[in-house]
Amino acid sequence: MSELPPASTDSTLRLLVQGQRVFDRFVLESVLGQGGMGVVWKARDEALEKDVALKFILESRARDPEAVAGLKHETRRCQELRHAGIVAIYDLLQDSDRVAVSMEYVAGATLAARKVERETGCFDPADVLPWLDQLKDALTYAHRDARVVHRDLKPSNLILTPSGRLKVMDFGISQQLLETVAGTAGTRVEGISLPYGSPQQLLGERARVADDVYSLGATIYDLLTGKPPFFRGRLELQVLELKPSSMDERRTELNHSGAPIPRHWEEVIGAALSKEPGDRPASVAELVDALRDERADRPKDVPVAPVVPVVRVVVPKVAVPKVEAPAPAAVERRAVFQAGAKDETVKAVGWVPTLAPKVRRIRDASWQVTAIVVLGFALLVAFGIHWKRHSVETPAPAAVAPVATAAPEKPRPDPLRPAALQPTGVKPPPKSR
Ligand SMILES: Nc1ncnc2c1ncn2[C@@H]1O[C@H](COP(=O)(O)OP(=O)(O)O)[C@@H](O)[C@H]1O
Ligand SMILES: [Mg+2]
Repeated sequence: MSELPPASTDSTLRLLVQGQRVFDRFVLESVLGQGGMGVVWKARDEALEKDVALKFILESRARDPEAVAGLKHETRRCQELRHAGIVAIYDLLQDSDRVAVSMEYVAGATLAARKVERETGCFDPADVLPWLDQLKDALTYAHRDARVVHRDLKPSNLILTPSGRLKVMDFGISQQLLETVAGTAGTRVEGISLPYGSPQQLLGERARVADDVYSLGATIYDLLTGKPPFFRGRLELQVLELKPSSMDERRTELNHSGAPIPRHWEEVIGAALSKEPGDRPASVAELVDALRDERADRPKDVPVAPVVPVVRVVVPKVAVPKVEAPAPAAVERRAVFQAGAKDETVKAVGWVPTLAPKVRRIRDASWQVTAIVVLGFALLVAFGIHWKRHSVETPAPAAVAPVATAAPEKPRPDPLRPAALQPTGVKPPPKSR
């Protein structure tokens, strides 16, 4: 028999047992997990003859009509999401005893669970990249096509199937529950997902794609270091005010090892965790593409060039930093993301690296080589023209001077030889053998 969630004082959670039939249709099989807002059971849907996940809401929430209405609204919105990378939401179920959301059951383990199984306590960039490609696909669909924001991205809402497919769970739902909790408790600090939530979510602003970009940044930070950007002390203050430590520093602090984190990953994740939404990558695709930049292969100790925006407006001069050290990347990132997100006339169309000193020297040398080649080519062309002109002005050899082709010069008489031995200029006949 499955164990009930520990220390559960909530009657809804306590009174659920294996084999129990609920909502006249589902038979409870086993507890899949418990979050701050309820418990999730695997159940058999007898009507459709398939396994589902039932997320039971805490009794205190289930008895709050406003909370249930909000959840119903969010469930309807998310029911429309159809994507292989998103766990499907089926329905909101309600009777006099309880409220639950039924959803696709996924056999697998969340990235949070996978992470703690690792010997190093965290993942390497190479582990994370294939998941990011899948997330980019799923979240771009949700944001751009379905126009739905997740609002609670975190490792425990990302589940990995045995075949390696990553699926996003709880679209819209958990944040809806958090908001109702916040409304009741008068504070948002109780939210379980605070370490992954953006400053704007904390302040109760309307959800935007920029919130998911922030949470995805916090999720990647967690996967690579073992902890989210802020995880102890007064989180709300830190989320609002504090710049997170670099991932490298965090790994050292937590004594977690692993394959090195590329320098530009630090920059991109740092940008995703910006306090200002406009300083973040404008979309999940932009974030993932920036991480996927071919420079990811560079070893960490090689200086990596900071990035500057490519702009469509004509800029008089692109300043290559005069100092050997790269210019502060944050300033340039700000330009990229602000341009991409806000300014219509100056749109970021991509990332280009400014040149690291070594690359710059190679570039300068190659300019010199190019100049020499061009000069040489010009000389060749000039010589060719000159030669051609000369050859036109000079008459053809036949017409010029029969003298030039006259018989061979007569040999001069040798004053020291007798007359009979003087050269005649006539070749002697070949000697017969
Ligand atoms: N659709 C699902 N299929 C399989 N397991 C699930 C599903 N939804 C949730 N779970 C499991 O239940 C756990 C608790 O989920 P939840 O209540 O959403 O809390 P949290 O998201 O904070 O972990 C998850 O960590 C996961 O292991
Ligand atoms: Mg969840």
